[in-house]
Amino acid sequence: MRPYLSLPLLSTLLASSTLAASSAPQWRFDVKKTPSGVLALEAIVVSPSLVIIFDRASDDPLQINNHSAWGAIWDLETSTVKPLDVLTNTFCASGALLSNGTMVSIGGDERGFPGNPDIQPGNSALRIFEPCASPSGEGCTLFEDPATVHLAATRWYPSSVRIFDGSLMIMGGSQVNSVFYNIQPENSFEFFPSKDGGAVRPSAFLERTLPANLFPRGFALPDGRAFIVASNQSIIYDIEKKTETILPDIPNGVHVTNPIDGSAILLPLSPPDYIPEVLVCGGQAVDPAIQPANFSSQKPATSQCSRITLTPEGIQKGWEVEHMLEGRVMPELLHIPNGQILIISGAQSGFSGTSAVQDPIGQSNADHPALTPSLYTPSLPLGRRISNTNMPTSEIPRLYHSSVTLTPQGNFFVAGSNPNRNTTLPGPGVTFATEFRVETLDPPFMFVERPTIQSLPAKVSFGASMTVPITIPGNLKGSNIQVSLMDLGFSSHAFHSSARLVFLDARMSRDRKSLTFTLPPNGRIYPPGPATIFLTVDDVTSPGIQTIVGSGKPPPTLE
Ligand SMILES: *[C@@H]1O[C@H](CO)[C@@H](O)[C@H](O)[C@H]1NC(C)=O
Ligand SMILES: *[C@@H]1O[C@H](CO)[C@@H](O)[C@H](O)[C@H]1NC(C)=O
Ligand SMILES: *[C@@H]1O[C@H](CO)[C@@H](O)[C@H](O)[C@H]1NC(C)=O
Ligand SMILES: *[C@@H]1O[C@H](CO)[C@@H](O)[C@H](O)[C@H]1NC(C)=O
Ligand SMILES: *[C@@H]1O[C@H](CO)[C@@H](O)[C@H](O)[C@H]1NC(C)=O
Repeated sequence: MRPYLSLPLLSTLLASSTLAASSAPQWRFDVKKTPSGVLALEAIVVSPSLVIIFDRASDDPLQINNHSAWGAIWDLETSTVKPLDVLTNTFCASGALLSNGTMVSIGGDERGFPGNPDIQPGNSALRIFEPCASPSGEGCTLFEDPATVHLAATRWYPSSVRIFDGSLMIMGGSQVNSVFYNIQPENSFEFFPSKDGGAVRPSAFLERTLPANLFPRGFALPDGRAFIVASNQSIIYDIEKKTETILPDIPNGVHVTNPIDGSAILLPLSPPDYIPEVLVCGGQAVDPAIQPANFSSQKPATSQCSRITLTPEGIQKGWEVEHMLEGRVMPELLHIPNGQILIISGAQSGFSGTSAVQDPIGQSNADHPALTPSLYTPSLPLGRRISNTNMPTSEIPRLYHSSVTLTPQGNFFVAGSNPNRNTTLPGPGVTFATEFRVETLDPPFMFVERPTIQSLPAKVSFGASMTVPITIPGNLKGSNIQVSLMDLGFSSHAFHSSARLVFLDARMSRDRKSLTFTLPPNGRIYPPGPATIFLTVDDVTSPGIQTIVGSGKPPPTLE
């Protein structure tokens, strides 16, 4: 018996006794009846009720046009799934929403799959999903025309971020599929819609961060530049001047990008100064000059989190180090509307990827799933920010190729995990099977009467001040009001591209029937595009309500 496995059991027992002792609702996992049918390797919320999931083109059980589907639409209202017809291979792609509300899925795998003849190469793919008005996704389709709409370079394992003009900055990746390190890199940036006449921009930073620089973690900063971390290095890239500023390395030899995945998040931005801070957690303290055959699935992951303030003084001070309650490789970091960060999923030992280390578990390079999430409270003093008190423990490992996203309802959609080359069903000798079970992680506010935002215009302008109708449950004092403007991000490979939380200046009317708030001044603070707005009153969060910040015009747009 492997020793780590008894720990989650113990915390389950503790959690249930705590539940019995107090009637206050706690966080809960809730496994849905319907499986995802398509492995949820990637996930993005595309409407108030729908999440698109993508897998590789493979032999997933959900069928479309007489073959296995590799895309699907999950309905958050009914917890059911329908297949989505995809032309190109979405394996290890990225994606984001544009200023006009359209979702774009980017890059993927060049390979097909034996027995599924309908697959076209996906590594230069741009897949377009226009805003879908149907609550069930009926009639909503993905548009692809590989001959005319494609990337300038071929990219497997790229990432992307929506920038100040509502277009996407696309970063890095590999030109071909490879087993572990990035051995045939595409060390460049490009944009969608394209800039520079369609040419790519070579990146010295990506060159320096080989060979473990896949899925770079990048954020749009409130001055319009981009922060990027890869391997154990970070920069600020000036998109307009095309220059990079080198920042201090992540301390203590910790590496944080694929195949040594840690994760990173831009902490919530607050008016009036919107001072950006980045948190980077997990990964492994190893030298990527070492070949994977010399790595072990049992090597404990780092518990290190590193935080930096991106002002001249903050950069001078460098990274501040703190520790999670356990080591995690492939952790997921997500914004909670009240400004806390959820730390969830991943493994306590090993690496990302499959069948590369000397002692894989089945085909998994990682072992000892981290089954209990933690909360990180940015405003608490160093050393006291991370806690898992009263957090539930999942029964489902979420390892390589799993995904998580905050939903418009305010809970978290948690799905996927497949540290195997192919679909591997549960059976004798299979430790980490392909995981089709979907669960939600439900915050305590899902079980009580919640505030609501009654309505919101379909579009809201930068700098606008507006008053909207709300309802507030009588038992809430209303002493703490938070309004969060959020991009829910695109989940792929332990990262949430474009995820963002900007707090808005807000006040409630004396009769508690309306809320007045002010939108950020420009697209550098919140890149123009779709947003979900949540109202949190005394730590009880409303369902989210969606809008478009800005003109809703196609990118590039500064309005
Ligand atoms: C699926 O296969 C069946 C049986 O071979 C055939 O009748 C049907 O036309 C096929 N449908 C499509 C969409 O190809
Ligand atoms: C970053 O990684 C390289 C390669 O492993 C290593 O030489 C360097 O010391 C690391 N930097 C820090 C600050 O640990
Ligand atoms: C890894 O192991 C191989 C033998 O299996 C050896 O040749 C190589 O030098 C080792 N070291 C590194 C840094 O990869
Ligand atoms: C995955 O499935 C394909 C198609 O059946 C097969 O060719 C390949 O050998 C399988 N790979 C592994 C690692 O099982
Ligand atoms: C949004 O913009 C993209 C990029 O120009 C375009 O492909 C897409 O069709 C547009 N969608 C809408 C609804 O305007």
